[in-house]
Amino acid sequence: MQNLIEKFSACYGLAPIAAAQAPGRLEVLGNHTDYNEGLVLSCAVEQKTAFALAPVEGSLCRIMDFREGREMTFDLADVDGAPPRDGSKYIIGMIRELRRYGLPAQAFCAGLESSVPLGSGMSSSAALEVASGLAFSIAFRLNLEQDPAVIARAGQGVENHYLGVKSGLLDQFSSLFGARDALILSDFREAAVTGSAQLPPGYAFVVINSMKKHSLVDSDYNSRREDCESAAARLAEMFPGVTALRDVTPEQLAAARAALPWREYRRAQHIVWECSRVRTAMELLRDGDVRGFGKLLFESHESSRLNFENSSPELDILVDIARHTPGCLGARLSGGGFGGITIHLVRAARAAEYAESVCAEYRRRTGIAAESFVCAPGDGAMGYAI
Ligand code: GLA
Repeated sequence: MQNLIEKFSACYGLAPIAAAQAPGRLEVLGNHTDYNEGLVLSCAVEQKTAFALAPVEGSLCRIMDFREGREMTFDLADVDGAPPRDGSKYIIGMIRELRRYGLPAQAFCAGLESSVPLGSGMSSSAALEVASGLAFSIAFRLNLEQDPAVIARAGQGVENHYLGVKSGLLDQFSSLFGARDALILSDFREAAVTGSAQLPPGYAFVVINSMKKHSLVDSDYNSRREDCESAAARLAEMFPGVTALRDVTPEQLAAARAALPWREYRRAQHIVWECSRVRTAMELLRDGDVRGFGKLLFESHESSRLNFENSSPELDILVDIARHTPGCLGARLSGGGFGGITIHLVRAARAAEYAESVCAEYRRRTGIAAESFVCAPGDGAMGYAI
């Protein structure tokens, strides 16, 4: 953070008045359950985005991206138009969302730095939304940092209302509420963190990026959400007390099989069982049963592949390699899917060696050079007045 503040001062010749940092996230278990009011086990990662700002006169906003030494600019008069192509869209989106909490139409200059790899499936966009939201809140005294869930909702609003992705709250939530060395359990009916767990000592997550994303990720994401909502509406008519897929028990779903369109049945199957796997995972982690936990990761992937159809040939290859590589206890796709990343639960002492061996085999089978990281759960977001 100190580094960013120094670069900011050197670049603009003035000091920032507020700064914030927000980490990327890893979805550990509970895939597409967030917008079904369900449960997710996730963590913040150590890679983070930092954002600092100072108000200036006029209407031109400047954001220096110190990663690339590139400046993005926009005029406050234009924020109601279509989103730009560069990363300033996340910041413009936050400005639009935070207006309703009193954000003034005040120009600023800002600086940003990030170690969250872009497009890596670790939610670099949510990290930027959360970091800029916290910094705006502090700089303009909106006091939202007292109720961080509001910042999470504003970030979700950017995706839902401005960028057209009907995503849930998971990414922003994990970035805000993640905690060092902890996996957090979030309940998206209550929009609250309701528990936490730890990996037993000696185990770690390796993230391996398939380096492939197919071109219609956003529309596929939205269509999965529509399937889920349609299935939930049908099930709500059959079973009193059901308002979202999170409420449906495996028994109810089995009883409704013939009454649901086949595709919706399989989508619901994924969500209902993911929620159940998250509950089981909490028990297994409490008991230190890391093998049992790993099996749930494999099961989750299998359900993505067959029921939710949000896997891809490359993700399937990575998980297949994982199954046949010694030292791996479980692996699955993580995040929205349709490409992106896989996470692998492995013995920490051999994590680097494991990653190297999976990447080598992946390259042999696909010709693709994958990126990998050993990931440790890191701190949640923080903001500072300067
Ligand atoms: C993306 C979305 C999240 C969540 C995951 C899948 O990361 O942004 O809201 O739905 O996919 O669990």
